[in-house]
Amino acid sequence: MQLSPKVERVLNDQINHELTAFYAYMAMAAWFEQTPYKGFSTWMQAQSKEELTHADKIFHYISERNGSIKLKEIPLDDYSFKTPLSVFEAALILEESTTAAIHDVYELSLKEKDFETQNFLNWFLKEQIEEESSVRDMIDKLKLSNGSPSALMHLDSVAGKRPL
Ligand SMILES: [Fe+2]
Ligand SMILES: [Fe+2]
Repeated sequence: MQLSPKVERVLNDQINHELTAFYAYMAMAAWFEQTPYKGFSTWMQAQSKEELTHADKIFHYISERNGSIKLKEIPLDDYSFKTPLSVFEAALILEESTTAAIHDVYELSLKEKDFETQNFLNWFLKEQIEEESSVRDMIDKLKLSNGSPSALMHLDSVAGKRPL
C-alpha cells in the first residue's frame, strides 16, 4: 500500500533528523580533534557513521513504499564545548530528541493504520535504547573520573577502540 502523505512527510523529517545527528556527531568529533582526546573523536566519528546508516534505511524504506524522498537543509547548532563530559551530555540530549521524534512517527503510523511503518520503526525503537544507554554509560564514567587526567586518558583509549 502506498504511504499516506502524512507518514511520508514525517519519514522525510526523520531522514533530516538522522542527518542532523550525523552532522552533530561530526561537529563533536571535530571538537575532540582540537584536544588530546583522539579516542573520543573516533567514538564520535563511529557514531556519526551510524546516523548516516539510519538515514539510509529510511531513504530506502520510503522508496520501497513508492513514496517520494525529499531532502532538506541540515541545521548545524553551535557546538562549542568545555569538557568531554559536556560533549556527551549534548549527545544524550540529541539521542533523547531522536527517540521522541521516532515516537511521533510511530504514533502517526498507528493513527494512519500503517502497520508496515510500525514494523519498520521497531528496529529504530530498539536502536534508540542502545544508543541512549551507551551515551549514558559514558556520562557515568566521565562523572566518576571527576576530571582526573589519567582516568580521562584511560576512558579516551577505551572509546578509541570503537570500530570506525
Ligand atoms: Fe539515529
Ligand atoms: Fe543516534
